[in-house]
Amino acid sequence: MMRMVTVFASITLLLTLQSAHSADAAGETRSEINSPDSDHRQLVAMPDEASQLMRKDMLDHLSALNEIIALLVENNLDAAADVAETRMGKSSMGKHRATGIGPGRFMPVEMRNIGWGMHESASELSREARDGNLKGAYSALQKVTASCVACHYSYRTR
Ligand code: HEC
Repeated sequence: MMRMVTVFASITLLLTLQSAHSADAAGETRSEINSPDSDHRQLVAMPDEASQLMRKDMLDHLSALNEIIALLVENNLDAAADVAETRMGKSSMGKHRATGIGPGRFMPVEMRNIGWGMHESASELSREARDGNLKGAYSALQKVTASCVACHYSYRTR
């Protein structure tokens, strides 16, 4: 009887530790985002106009990404190649340069590199799709989304 109680107690203890641990991990991510004190992302200041341009571009990236995935699923590789290059690829870069408030100039160099990497990967996606290489296109797509994650987890603008 005593032995059974001990076994039961150990199991309960293990389960408690386990759930405390996962709650901790989840709580950490949540509070990192919610509380400015524990938000370790670097704050990047930019003028309102630049920030607005950036948000507009970001929304377009998000919907381009969605369109690209839909086109890849339909095996419509040429259309996916077009969307990737024109909306996110290297040919989509520098369109705000003439305004003088393009967001790029306010980014620390590391951040800008992540942005360049994203455009580079979108162009790679476009090339692979154009060549009919679906696997290569998916692999480049993953590099694109990795850039979204890398930048968002490192920088914030407010
Ligand atoms: C080089 C850094 C960087 C990369 C790469 C990046 N973002 Fe962003 N994103 C930002 C910043 C900074 C903001 C906040 C802009 C602001 O509010 O001033 C933002 C904001 C956004 C927003 C919110 C827009 C709104 O309505 O306020 C969305 C959605 C978004 N990004 C999606 C994406 C997606 C999808 C990708 C990848 C395809 C991506 N981002 C890649 C830096 C980046």
